Formats: sequence, structure tokens, C-alpha cells
Amino acid sequence: MAHPYYGLNELREMFLSYFESKGHLRLPSFSLIPHNDASLLLINSGMAPMKTWFTREEEPPCNRVTTCQKCIRTGDIENIGKTDRHGTYFEMLGNFSFGDYFKKEAIPFCWEFLTKVVGLEEDRLYPSIYLDDDEAFEIWNKDIGIPAERIFRFGKEDNFWEHGAGPCGPCSEVYYDRGPEHGCGKPGCTVGCECDRYIEVWNNVFSQFVNDGEGHYTEMKNKNIDTGMGLERLACVVQNVNSLFDVDTVMNITNKVSEITNAHYGESHKTDVSLRVITDHIRSSVMMICDGVLPSNEGRGYVLRRLLRRAARHGKLLGVERPFLYEVVDTVVHENETAYPDLREKQAYITKVIRTEEENFARTIDGGMKIYQELLAAHKEKGESVFSGADAFKLYDTYGFPIDLTAEMAEEEGMQVDREGFDQMMEEQRVRARKAREALGDLGWAGIEFGSEMPATEFVGYEQDKTSAKVLAIVVDGELRDEIVAGAEATVVLDKTTFYAEMGGQVADHGTITGGGTFQVRDVQKNKGGKFLHVGVLENGVLKVGDSVETAIDTERRKAVRRAHSATHLLDAALKKVLGDHVHQAGSLVEPDRLRFDFTHFEAITPVQLAEIDRIVNDAILEGYQVVTEVLPIEEARKKGAVAVFGEKYSETVRVVEMGDFSMEFCGGTHLDNTAKVGPFRIKSETSIASGVRRIEATVGKLSLEVMNKNQELMFHVAQILKTNPGELAAKAEQQVAELKGLRHDLEKFRAEASLGEARQFLTSAKTVGGLKIVTATREGMDAAGLRQMGDFLRDKESGVVAVLASVNDGKITFLAVCGKEAVARGIKAGDLVKNVCAICGGKGGGKPDSAMGGGSDLLKLDNALASVDDYVAEKLK
Ligand code: ALA
Repeated sequence: MAHPYYGLNELREMFLSYFESKGHLRLPSFSLIPHNDASLLLINSGMAPMKTWFTREEEPPCNRVTTCQKCIRTGDIENIGKTDRHGTYFEMLGNFSFGDYFKKEAIPFCWEFLTKVVGLEEDRLYPSIYLDDDEAFEIWNKDIGIPAERIFRFGKEDNFWEHGAGPCGPCSEVYYDRGPEHGCGKPGCTVGCECDRYIEVWNNVFSQFVNDGEGHYTEMKNKNIDTGMGLERLACVVQNVNSLFDVDTVMNITNKVSEITNAHYGESHKTDVSLRVITDHIRSSVMMICDGVLPSNEGRGYVLRRLLRRAARHGKLLGVERPFLYEVVDTVVHENETAYPDLREKQAYITKVIRTEEENFARTIDGGMKIYQELLAAHKEKGESVFSGADAFKLYDTYGFPIDLTAEMAEEEGMQVDREGFDQMMEEQRVRARKAREALGDLGWAGIEFGSEMPATEFVGYEQDKTSAKVLAIVVDGELRDEIVAGAEATVVLDKTTFYAEMGGQVADHGTITGGGTFQVRDVQKNKGGKFLHVGVLENGVLKVGDSVETAIDTERRKAVRRAHSATHLLDAALKKVLGDHVHQAGSLVEPDRLRFDFTHFEAITPVQLAEIDRIVNDAILEGYQVVTEVLPIEEARKKGAVAVFGEKYSETVRVVEMGDFSMEFCGGTHLDNTAKVGPFRIKSETSIASGVRRIEATVGKLSLEVMNKNQELMFHVAQILKTNPGELAAKAEQQVAELKGLRHDLEKFRAEASLGEARQFLTSAKTVGGLKIVTATREGMDAAGLRQMGDFLRDKESGVVAVLASVNDGKITFLAVCGKEAVARGIKAGDLVKNVCAICGGKGGGKPDSAMGGGSDLLKLDNALASVDDYVAEKLK
């Protein structure tokens, strides 16, 4: 090897510190989730998170920046594992100039780093430039000293860099010659050949234009530099290995996968492909989950689900029948934690997400695989080469098979899936679902459809509690009425209202509509046509269509709802702060002074986290943030960073509720004007309601006070009982418990002594039958242990004793019979004796000759039973 060896983690550090020494600000990798960039699902290059710095829509923190950026590219997913260089996850090293240096500095930086810092051989490096970029040519040729014949000129295809919308420009790349043994050997094989000999390591983009995404280019004010070098690619060259999977850190992951699957690299092409797919996909998945992506059926979540399920299936191909990917997480974390320390912090969470997805997938696969095989066999039998869209849809809809999975499996059997047919069925399903929703829409609550000639109700309840309005319609039992009289239950539609209709988890307002009578409103729903349906009962008088009425909401109730709603926003923000950005609202109920909030999170919240959440919310309340609501165009709201509810559809303009710099959310609900008015916030419970979804219930305002007052009253009451003050309560309770324990102990001892004294007494006054001493006695309330103690004492003390002791508890008799040694020797058996007395009292018993127990329930026969002992003994001794 003509150049020194470096590990991947070393190379990353070498690059970043080199550019730091050249005046660049080192920034950590940005999240894989793009921020405010709808053109991208996942970050795919070093420059992607910095687009606005290039265009100067935002000021960069420094005109020179260097990063190592996590990237995902899934465009070539089918090729992963089959080739040496494709991976869905990679890291991109980059140095960036925002209107600062340009070609003259960028090219020498690149050259110095590759040849002097890393020590790559100069005669193995070849630059390429964009067709007519003579400026770049001069720099390579004159400043660096590369002979003209070693500089290659390529067209737009190779040497103009752009990726969708955003900054772009001509570029100059650097290729490394790995030697003829890696080449295709064809004549004309040189830089630019598709084979594995010349590989591109560095790309200097001279970013001068912005592409609007539709192919229109505008020149930027600044001339910028955007460079990119795949870290794994560089490591391949430096480590002299053939593929990205042979790079040190990646190989360590493959080794772990081998260890678990018992499949070894190099055994067969098929095995290699599976090992590589698993290695690549687990790297991507761990990184994505760490940045807050969760498996789902849409967008980024679908990419993640697909990667995980694809990896799991390759595990199956290697013969692993149980979830195993989660066991690789530790190795992925270990190999990457120097650069990404948050991996270790989130390791348990990442492992849990992967394991859950594997388990879900195992269920899916088990259920659907059989069906898939049957469908496949049926197609084959008919000699078809196309797997029908209807069958693919059935697998998707009923068994949760992602379409790509079906396509891939079918392909392995040499079949194509009819994607168009599948898409059509998906669309049909969407239409069906929409129709079903629409059908519910206008009919819904009132059970009647209002025509479009009736205007939508104007809601003025954000600002007012009362308003004058007109009755537009009255519905009773699904039929329109002109008027109703006292006692009627009805739905009333007004032209204008102050009643909030149940929406976004917030319950409806209650109150009255007063005209010729008083209508008590118990519920309000908004239908699809925007009409507010006031549901309630007319308490007195008459209400007619066309009447002028006054609305009045129950303001105390509304205030309490406001408290709960504002607190819900504070809770959402606190959860994100304590648990992470993966927390998304999954459901919410806002009631007077009470809230329920469901959110995505994969494990139980620890008591410490819960206390932290409670503290953060209460601090935010005490901070007294102003609550400001604004109606904004949706784009502007998103730009400001307002949190939207996941998966919710929003219209062109949205209402944004802001609480200082603590929280900003899209929300149509009613809020306080200051967070201080929430009052005390108390978490009541934290539970799991579904896989990956947790629920917090809490109280605010007066309800919290009520709970706290009740608790306090209880505490005073208990303190009073214990004759102390609340401050001393714990110490007093502990002292009392200890005292009670001591007393119990003393009592037991005393009782034992007393019963032995009594037993002694029994022996002195015992009757004698044939030389044996007969003792019979009843002890109210003595337990079995007490009986035994007494019995053992008698038996051991007097060898000629025959004793039957009875105790009565809750109407049930327990008998104990004991016989001393001499008595046993003379043929008296405690077991037989107890059987006898128990039988007299309607029960059963038995045991050994010297000691036996039993029970009975006929209390009236107890005396007879005990009296029978004398006769029994006399009889036995005959
Ligand atoms: N943005 C350029 C690339 O990704 C450097 O190759």
C-alpha cells in the first residue's frame, strides 16, 4: 500500500479539523429530516440543509462552514447489496463557502487534503472539469501542476451538479485510479469508464445558480462553493478495499449480522447480497429513528418501514425466523457514536422501535405469506407472467404487505406486478373512503341534509361570549320544523354563533339560545357544510325559524376549557423537550379543567421524566407567557416553525397559537390570553394505550385545586387522628407503626405464656381414664398456630396425655388432637380420635398418631364431641 491506512472515524476527524484550520466553522450533522423543505423527504447531501444560506434567504453563521452530513438516498434501493458501491446510508464530508472563497481556493484545499493530509498518491489522481470551464482548467494545470492530458472535460451529465430544486452549478471532480487489476480491460478504459478502476472521490461544485425545480436557472448574487466527498467512498480508497461493505466500521456491523445469522460473507453471492442488504438497511434505519422517523405507511415513515421489512425478509432468507435486527443496534451505535453521541442516549428507544416493527412484520408475513404463495401458484398455473394488481392490493389491504415487497418477491420468481392495476385499486379505495366520510358529513348529527343555499354559520366565539343571531333551521328527529314548543329536543341552526363546536379534541360549549323561549344547548357539532348544529332542549316558550335570538355560552365552563386547551399545548412542548422530537400528537381530549393527550413514544415514561414534564409545564405557566393567535397563510406558519398535528389536512390559511417562545402550534381551539391563567397543572396518570402510543391525563385550574384541597383536607384529618401536625405526619406514622409492631409482639408472647399456664392447669385438673390423662377444652378465637402450640406443650410435657382442643372462629370449629408417647404406645391414635370428633360435628380430619387436626361446623354438637373422648379412650383400652 503506497498510502497510509486510516479508519473511517479517523478520516472524518481529519477532514473536519483540516477545514477548521482553514477558517471554517465546524457544524454537527443536520438531522436527516429536512427542515421546511418540502422538495425533499430525507437529507441526501451535505448542502441540502444549507440551501437558504446559499441563496441568502437566511444568513449563514459563518461564510465558511464544514460538516460531515448524514445522508439517505434510496433511489437505487434495488441495487443495494448487488453492487460494491451502493448504499442507502452514507456520510458526506463537505466544505462550503457562502460568497467567500471560490475556485482558486477550493481546488488547492481539495488537492492538499487528498495528497498531503491523507497522503494519496498524486499520480493516481485525475481531475475532471465542466466542458468549457477554463478557469478551473488553469487552476489545476498552472497552480497545482497537473499536466493537461490528465485533466478530463465532461458534459452536463457528469460535471454539472444539481439535485432537484436549489443551488447548483458546474463542478470539478477528482478520480482515483485503483489500478489495472480493478479495470474492465476494454480498450479506451480511462477516467469516466463505468468499471471499478477509476472512482470518483471528491466533487467541488461551483454553486452559482438556483434551479426552481422546473429547470429554470437564475444566477445567484454570490459565488459559492459546495463540496462533497463520500466518507465511505474515501475510506474504500484509503483502506484499499473493494466495496463499501469492507470498510472497517461497516465490516464490523456485517460481522455482527454474520454472528447472529450464522451466514458468512463470501459463502455465496446470494448470502453476500442478504448480508449486505441487512448491514446497509440497519445502518440507515438506526440513523433515521435516532432523528425521529417512525415506521408508517407514508412518506419518510414508509421509507423506514420498507428498509426494516426488507432487511427482516433477508434475515428470513438466511434462515433467521425470529426478530433479530434489534440485536444489531448496539454495534451500529458503537461504530458511530464518536460522531453521533445521541445514538447512545437513544439506543433503548431505537432498539424498541426496531423490535416492535420486526414483531409486527413477523405477524404480517406469517399471515400473508401463505396467501401470497397460493396467489402466486394460481398465477403460475395459468402460465401468467404478471402478478395481478388486485392480488397485490389484497395482500396490501388485508395483510399489510408493502407493494414493493410483493413486487420484489414476485420478481425473484420471474414475475412482474401490475403496478397500474394496484394503483387503480388504491385510488378506488380512497374514493370509497371519501364518499363514506361525505355521507356522514352533512347528515351526521342532525340527520338531515341542508342545501347549499343555506349559508355556513359564522363563528364569532373567539372574541365574544354572546351575540344576536337568527334561527335558520330547526330539526326534530331528522325532520325540518318551523317551530318547536317547550320540552322539545331539537337541533337548531343559526346564522351566527358564539358556541364552539366540538373539534380538534376540544369539547363543545354549553349555554343558552334565548328568543321566544330558552333553548339549553348541550352539544354543538359543525357539519361539512360549515353549519353549527346546536343540540339541546327547549325549556320554555316557543322557538320559530326566523326568530331573532341571543346566544350565551356558559362562560365559566368555557374558561375551564380554555385552561385545559392552553395547558395541552404546554404539555406537548414539554414532552418534546423531555422525550425528543419523535413525540407527535396522536389524539387529544380537552374538557373543562381536564385533559387527555395521546402521543407517539415507544416506552414507559420514567417517574423522573414525568416529574420533569410536570415541572416544565408548571414553570411555563408561572412564566406568564402571552398567548397570541394569528391567522396566517400555511406556508408562512410552517416557516415560523409552528407545530402541526401529524397527518392532519390544513386549508390555505391556518390559525397559529403562540405562547411566548415556548410553544407554537396550528390550532383552531379557544385559548387563554396568558399561560398564568392555567393555574396548577397536575398529571393524574401516564399509561400505554397502543403499541407506541402513550396517554397522559392531567387536571388544571379549579379541578386541580379541588384535588389538592381534598388531599390537604385528608392530610389534616389524618394528622388530627394521629394527634400531630401535617409536617410531622410521616415521622408520627412511622413511630406508630413501629410501636404497634412492638405491642403485637409483646401480646403474642403474653398470649403464648398465658396459654401454656392454662395448659399446665389442664394437666393438673385432668380426668384419668385407665391411667391416661384426658384433656378436652374449647378456646374461642384461638388460631391454628395457638392450638398447636398448646397441643405440643401438652404432648411433650405429659407422656400419658390424650387431649382434644377445639377453637371456634366465624362459626367454624378447628380440632386438634394430641397423644403423648405412652398414650400412643397404649394404642390411642390422635388421627383416629380427631376423625371421630370431627364426624360428630359434621366434618373431617386426620393426621399422625401423636398429633392430628380437623374441622367441623355443627357448633351444637361440640360439647358432645368433646365428651365422647373419655368413652373413646376407655373403649380403646379395653
Ligand atoms: N452537493 C455535491 C454532491 O452531493 C457536492 O455531490
